[in-house]
Amino acid sequence: MAGKIPQTFIDDILVRVDIVDLIDSYVPLKKAGSSYVARCPFHTEKTPSFAVTRSKQLYHCFGCGAGGNAITFLMEHGHLGFVEAVEDLADFVGVQVPRESGSAPIKKNNVTEVYQLLEQAASFYIDQLRDNEAAKVAVDYFKSRGLTGEVAREFQLGYAPDSWDALSKQFKPQALIEAGLAVAKENGSTYDRFRGRVIFPIRDRRGRVIGFGGRVLDDSLPKYLNSPETSVFHKGREVYGLYELLSKNSKPERIVVVEGYMDVIALAQFGLGYSVATLGTATSKDHLELLFRFSSELVLCFDGDKAGKAASWRAVESALPCLRDGRQVRIMQLSTGVDPDNLVREEGLEAFESRVSSAQTLSDYFFERLSQGLNLSDMEGRASLVSKARGYLEKLPNGIFQDLMQDKLKSLSKIEKLEFYPKATTLKSQRYRQSQADKKLSPMRVVVSLLLQNPEFIEVIEQKEINWAVVNLAGVDLLRQVLEIIAQHPNINQSQLVESFRGQESEKYINIMMNHDFLIPELGLKDEFSGAIDRLLQQGRDGRFLELNAKQQVEGLSDAELQELRNLINNPK
Ligand code: UTP
Ligand code: MN
Repeated sequence: MAGKIPQTFIDDILVRVDIVDLIDSYVPLKKAGSSYVARCPFHTEKTPSFAVTRSKQLYHCFGCGAGGNAITFLMEHGHLGFVEAVEDLADFVGVQVPRESGSAPIKKNNVTEVYQLLEQAASFYIDQLRDNEAAKVAVDYFKSRGLTGEVAREFQLGYAPDSWDALSKQFKPQALIEAGLAVAKENGSTYDRFRGRVIFPIRDRRGRVIGFGGRVLDDSLPKYLNSPETSVFHKGREVYGLYELLSKNSKPERIVVVEGYMDVIALAQFGLGYSVATLGTATSKDHLELLFRFSSELVLCFDGDKAGKAASWRAVESALPCLRDGRQVRIMQLSTGVDPDNLVREEGLEAFESRVSSAQTLSDYFFERLSQGLNLSDMEGRASLVSKARGYLEKLPNGIFQDLMQDKLKSLSKIEKLEFYPKATTLKSQRYRQSQADKKLSPMRVVVSLLLQNPEFIEVIEQKEINWAVVNLAGVDLLRQVLEIIAQHPNINQSQLVESFRGQESEKYINIMMNHDFLIPELGLKDEFSGAIDRLLQQGRDGRFLELNAKQQVEGLSDAELQELRNLINNPK
């Protein structure tokens, strides 16, 4: 990979592309009023709720909430990373992606060199297994675990000789450290991280080696050693076995998520080629989002010990916000002492796969787990279930699955009238009660949404000469961030605006607000906007008045504050 892609190029390409043409080449669109619609490619539906708007250069699904600009579409639809999506978009538009060359003086080894070194190390470890007389112990170990040569080759298993400098004497120490392959001592010298271990190379989706796991051959500790986080290896975002899985089947019907390297390998050896493992870390939302790009069904199959059971529940908790309609998580519980590796060896493929296909649904697992120890035939038990479950159900994306889970809680608790709060971050459901909803939106929401949708409205704000210091309201930081971006890029369009929030915490808010449809009021949106700002400022002044008032009574005010308070009283508007 060459240098960073310049931001100006990304801006430029978003101007060149027409999102309608782009999406139409993947999902045929039909014109409907001012936008184009289709059945949503991100969830299953009968009637179209996926809309692409040329004027905004954005897409949005009112059913599942997916949405974003051309880059987001390629990332989501093609299961791509950001850089890959930009590359594809550049292809579509017919331009070359330029790269910034060496932005900072290269203190760190560049990433390309890290990849190369990891690749060389992987080959070295494989060669050790073949040539080295001492590696007979490793080969014997693999045999004792029942591995075939074939599966060992598929997963490129290797052996790190029991030496402090097998790598260190061949490669530059600094480079080895950056690749996670060597450890620095206090006196400045280095030694090999992996010694006397069988080696499991970890590859990214494109097949590049990004790190290693190493297992001892006996029962010494630690049993497994993994590469540390490096510039190319992030445990929270990578899984083991994904590349091998995708090379066999790029669109698996389901993916089985297991805990260990050996589980993935044993399953593959027995013909179940669609499992992956997290890398000694808890299953995160990022892991699950990554896997959902390739399959809509994930089956969690963790060890049947206490740790594995706890890990299943935590994984389910992480999964809740990812479960938009069309995605499914199921849980395959194993008995104590059993893991997928020994189970498939004992029972064979067919029995194992039939367990996979009959794994428990998330809803059954969820309510079973939360009801443990509760007596649902008495009122206290049911109330306790409601209080435990409610918060979780609110984490689910709005949609049919959420409705069904809420119905299930109602029926288990026998409380028909249970109220659920809409998520603070979601305005989607309000679209259906729109005129009401527009009125209920806070002035801050109205201002930010309208500004995002009409960046030129910034002039209204500029004319008002606002003293932001006293507007101490929730959301004001986001508003000011949007204002700053627009002020710096006066001709910014909506898709570029969305782009400038990619990866930020507010990204989702921005997308939702960008897509909130306002009923056009009689006096026009600009007046609506101006009115909302006035209300916002009034809120700010009211808040400041209360704040100063309280302070005056408790600790007294400085002269300046006193003057401010007088102004607020004399000039309440
Ligand atoms: P397990 O101990 O269940 O591994 O840990 P396993 O695959 O069943 O091991 P075998 O069968 O004895 O070889 C599951 C995973 O947790 C991580 C590794 O990724 C391992 O595959 N782990 C475990 C570590 O990172 N460090 C350890 O010391 C142990
Ligand atoms: Mn295990």
